[in-house]
Amino acid sequence: MKKNKFNQNWLHDHINDPYVKMAQREGYRARAAYKIKQIDEDENLIKAGDILVDLGSTPGSWSQYACKKLRNPLTNILNGAIIAIDILPMDNISDVHFLQGDFREEEIYQKFQQMVLNISGEKKIDGVMSDMSPNLSGIEVADAARIEHIAELVLDFALNNLKKNGWAVIKCFHGSGFSQIVELYKKHFVKVAERKPKASRSNSSETFLLARGLKG
Ligand SMILES: C[S@@+](CC[C@H](N)C(=O)[O-])C[C@H]1O[C@@H](n2cnc3c(N)ncnc32)[C@H](O)[C@@H]1O
Repeated sequence: MKKNKFNQNWLHDHINDPYVKMAQREGYRARAAYKIKQIDEDENLIKAGDILVDLGSTPGSWSQYACKKLRNPLTNILNGAIIAIDILPMDNISDVHFLQGDFREEEIYQKFQQMVLNISGEKKIDGVMSDMSPNLSGIEVADAARIEHIAELVLDFALNNLKKNGWAVIKCFHGSGFSQIVELYKKHFVKVAERKPKASRSNSSETFLLARGLKG
């Protein structure tokens, strides 16, 4: 009964959510597009020519947004490249290179690196976008550890692949391990800030870290 009420409330909020309506109007596959859009517009992150990776890309709205941003409106040609990775399949997005698999697997990682080289002739990329979250159990300690673990793996990925002035946007959650994640990123990046875009629901503990410029 309680669960049913929760579902009804969720459905009501979802139907009346302005970002859901906007996403339908503007052709985005998910309202999440507006999270990266708002962070990007505030921070001027995505620039012409950028090579980007979208970790946990499905259904694809972050890649769609990045594509829109990199596409030259006069020629319709994409100036830059986007590599999207997800365990789940993703419907094709024109000009987005998709790898289906777990970003932690060596085989996917090798394919990703080869793709970057083939596309750009370079080994390093400009930006890492991660909207991934682990499967949450509802047990706080276990979930905090899982969230921290993903954030550490994304950090490793970013450190190994970003250009010196590169950036990363990483989905995190407020909870017991959050300050440790921030400290960890601060060890390796010149600037680390928390961003909670308006499109991220205020009743959700979801938040985003923006890390810019590698130290050292
Ligand atoms: C919130 S969704 C991403 C939504 C996407 N940013 C969008 O706007 O369309 C998170 C995605 O992360 C993916 N994911 C979670 N863990 C992953 C992993 N280890 N490797 C690759 N993808 C993963 C899930 O399959 C899921 O599709």
